Amino acid sequence: MVDKKKFDIAVVGSGPGGYTAAIRAAQCGKSVALIEKNLLGGTCLNVGCIPSKALLAGSALLHQIRKASEFGISTGSVSVDYGAMKQRKDLVVGKIRSGLEGLIASNRISLFRGEARFEAPQELKVVGHDNLYIRADNIIIATGSIPFDVPAFPCDHKRILNSTSLLEITKIPKSLCIVGGGYIGCEFASLFAELGSKVTILEALPSILSPQGAQISAFMTKSFSAKGIMIRTNAKVEKIMNKGQSVQILLADGSALESELCLIAVGRKTYSDGLMLEKAGLSLTNKGVLETNAKMETVVKGIYAIGDITGKWMLAHVASHQGIVAASNAAGHEETIHYEAVPAVIFTSPEIAMVGMTSEQALSAGKTVAAGLFPFQALGKAQAAADTEGFTQILSDKATGQILGACVIGHGASDLIAEMALAIQNELTLDCIIGTIHAHPTIAEGWLEAALLAAERPIHFPPKAKR
Ligand code: FAD
Ligand code: NAI
Repeated sequence: MVDKKKFDIAVVGSGPGGYTAAIRAAQCGKSVALIEKNLLGGTCLNVGCIPSKALLAGSALLHQIRKASEFGISTGSVSVDYGAMKQRKDLVVGKIRSGLEGLIASNRISLFRGEARFEAPQELKVVGHDNLYIRADNIIIATGSIPFDVPAFPCDHKRILNSTSLLEITKIPKSLCIVGGGYIGCEFASLFAELGSKVTILEALPSILSPQGAQISAFMTKSFSAKGIMIRTNAKVEKIMNKGQSVQILLADGSALESELCLIAVGRKTYSDGLMLEKAGLSLTNKGVLETNAKMETVVKGIYAIGDITGKWMLAHVASHQGIVAASNAAGHEETIHYEAVPAVIFTSPEIAMVGMTSEQALSAGKTVAAGLFPFQALGKAQAAADTEGFTQILSDKATGQILGACVIGHGASDLIAEMALAIQNELTLDCIIGTIHAHPTIAEGWLEAALLAAERPIHFPPKAKR
């Protein structure tokens, strides 16, 4: 006999979007089913944010140890056991996953292991470890994304890897060629360059990190080059061949490169395989995404979509926030999503973090911008900690003083950006930052100094020369 279960809300996919939505729905007093065909926690926990940052934490520590002599500390010779580093990464992921299992259980969410597919707009079939039919008044789709595989040079997961297979290697490659100079390409370039690999980035566009704006792109190109990372832009890869002990990469200009491993990091595509969206009356747009309104509703009543599948920002915290909005609406509360103050962090060395508009976006929105850029060099804390690479920058509307955008490159950027996210979300002005006492000596003083500069009242920076 076929097992049939009825829930108020069913969530497909347990990534940061799906599990957050499930918890929020349960908090609203709803009966909730969460369906996952793979590992609990999705891309972010298992093959994305957490494992990559666990490894990057190791390379950051190595970087600090290498600087020890600057502080009068001798460490002797330092070596890396990458196998042990990977093992630690797996332990971190496993620990968080079991914490998540507990969280799901404590919220009385029914977890089903298997692949969900639509039978009708309010009915899902689960195929896998658990075989059953689920009926739900509301369904939230959170099926995420997968690495984009290029047909001309597909991954073999032996020497031609994507981010998922690269996270599984147990030895540091002597050389690593990375196709794509975006988030993943730059984070792995930082990691393996610090660990001693000879890293080359091949980027198709005229610069790495193009969407992040010319300033960030130029700064990171210089910083990476100084660290020995080779960057080839306008690089069109035609073919990649596994030669047994190495890979050969052929470029359209006739040149060829050889490296031990090659990482393909040219973007991610939304994932809805096997979901049978058509049976729910849904289809992907020609960009391959599920379209939603500000309440995260799709065109079919009672069906919501969140996270990478919506193609807005492929970031874990956006997925989670969308999950809260979708679940609240599905539970009968009114909530809408806003994307004006989405912080984004690239965990390179140095870290990059940004929120709001880039100067290119502010100018094309017709804003007259007052900008203040303050170098880490001029911060006492940065000097004390020998972390002087980087800057804070605030862009404000010249007419109103409202903060439009901010970015920071440097040690601790990932945490520093929170202040500016709060400022932009709440439409704060330069005066709000200037009027807030910032502790000394801290790197966060960089925001105060950048705001003072944008307001043309610098304290720790020479005044603009009078005309
Ligand atoms: P996912 O996390 O992709 O989860 C989707 C889940 O749905 C998966 O578990 C999948 O198995 C399941 N599923 C799919 N179809 C079905 C089905 N039919 N039935 C049942 N289950 C199904 N973002 C950040 O914000 N910060 C970072 O530092 C960061 N680092 C990253 C590093 C890497 C290497 C990568 C690849 C990504 C990184 N990201 C980061 C992006 C982040 O991982 C994603 O934006 C986020 O995981 C998207 O969440 P999601 O809930 O939409 O989907
Ligand atoms: P991406 O879109 O960030 O970068 C892809 C890069 O590859 C671009 O610069 C693009 O111009 C280039 N490219 C595309 N085709 C190419 C080709 N044939 N040859 C050479 N270069 C080519 O995508 P990426 O790095 O794969 O990451 C996917 C997404 O995952 C990110 O956009 C981000 O949303 C998310 N992510 C977030 C992280 C974070 O928040 N710290 C970390 C890692 C991923």
